Amino acid sequence: MAAAAIAALSFASVPCREHQLRHGASTFNAQQFSASSSHRHTANLKSGGPRRLRAAKRVIVAQAGTGRYKVAILGAAGDIGQPLSLLIKMSPLVSALHLYDIANVKGITADLSHCNTPAEVAGFTGKDELPSSLAGADVVVIPAGVPRKPGMTRDDLFSVNAGIVKELAEAVAEHAPGALVHIISNPVNSTVPIAAEVLKQKGAYDPRKLFGVTTLDVVRANAFVAARKGLPLADVDVPVVGGHSGATILPLLSKARPKVPFTDEEVEELTARVQNAGTEVVEAKAGAGSATLSMAYAAARFVEASLRGLDGDGDVYECAYVQSQVVPELPFFASRVKLGREGMEEVVASELRGLSEYEARALEALKPQLKASIDKGVAYVQQQQEAALN
Ligand code: NAD
Ligand code: LMR
Repeated sequence: MAAAAIAALSFASVPCREHQLRHGASTFNAQQFSASSSHRHTANLKSGGPRRLRAAKRVIVAQAGTGRYKVAILGAAGDIGQPLSLLIKMSPLVSALHLYDIANVKGITADLSHCNTPAEVAGFTGKDELPSSLAGADVVVIPAGVPRKPGMTRDDLFSVNAGIVKELAEAVAEHAPGALVHIISNPVNSTVPIAAEVLKQKGAYDPRKLFGVTTLDVVRANAFVAARKGLPLADVDVPVVGGHSGATILPLLSKARPKVPFTDEEVEELTARVQNAGTEVVEAKAGAGSATLSMAYAAARFVEASLRGLDGDGDVYECAYVQSQVVPELPFFASRVKLGREGMEEVVASELRGLSEYEARALEALKPQLKASIDKGVAYVQQQQEAALN
């Protein structure tokens, strides 16, 4: 990869300014990657001699020692799992990367392990190896499950993905009870409550550690607003709250930074575009799946933000679908959260105050749909438990 491309591999979306909340991944910077240090290495070889080479090697070795977190990806051989694994392999904070899937992991592990970045890669195939894949994990990311085809809703995936998420959450409860869990599998509005119920049943539920990954909604909102308003991408920060499906996805344009005026038409168009962006990709792929590359980018950004929180960076914020009381009728709700050493430290409830009339109406309107999806997830686990008892 050209040095320029590596340099572009930054998740930065919002520069760190005193008057702004610092965004989760704003310092996930290619400068820190050993991959980029190997570019320095090449440059040194051209311009220097053995002394420079030794110095470059010291840089690489020093960087190899900085990562100390273990990340497990469940569903790593999938269309999201593969590019996500690559991006996480490039994180300077990661020392071990465990790839789990029901099939096809071996080749991906061999392939990825040849990248000369510090994280050690190990592959695990099939249920028997699931416990080992989870042992000692700090963060478990779950993109396992089927994606949509044109004409389907995310809820249409429930019948298959509910069981997959339940099974994997059970394994997390047993083998990685202290890990942060990032759920990507759809329908997120229901799969997160499913994971919560399973973890509760197993006595391993800590609401600070369970997240539905909604970063892609933020990434999209930022991209669409920047394009529409002609703003530099790096300056744009749009919080997206609610859930992760259709009208439950609510971009708060009134809270977007930098502060720019939006006409009523722009608000309606941009909101609809963010809400339908997943379907836009599903239709464009015409049966070959849903968003995978942008999703991997977004999930890697959220992993990096979580690791920075675990690492003691006291200023990390991202939007995520979490257990919260900001909307009393909705036990799970996507909000901007502060990430810290124990996972979620705080929900930024203030962002829901002073909404525009349009946003306040949209928030009211999404409540029944989101509540039904949450209840469906909770009921599923309870029914499964009752069935197991009979
Ligand atoms: P995919 O079919 O390409 O990959 C899914 C992977 O999961 C496959 O490798 C499969 O073998 C694996 N898998 C299935 N059952 C498993 C099990 N029991 N244990 C471990 N692995 C298992 O699908 P994809 O495109 O990677 O999408 C995965 C999921 O992510 C879908 O549900 C999709 O809707 C969802 N998604 C969510 C978002 C979001 O914003 N949260 C965005 C895009 C996609
Ligand atoms: C997305 O938003 O892209 C994902 O939830 C996948 C989908 O089915 O739309």
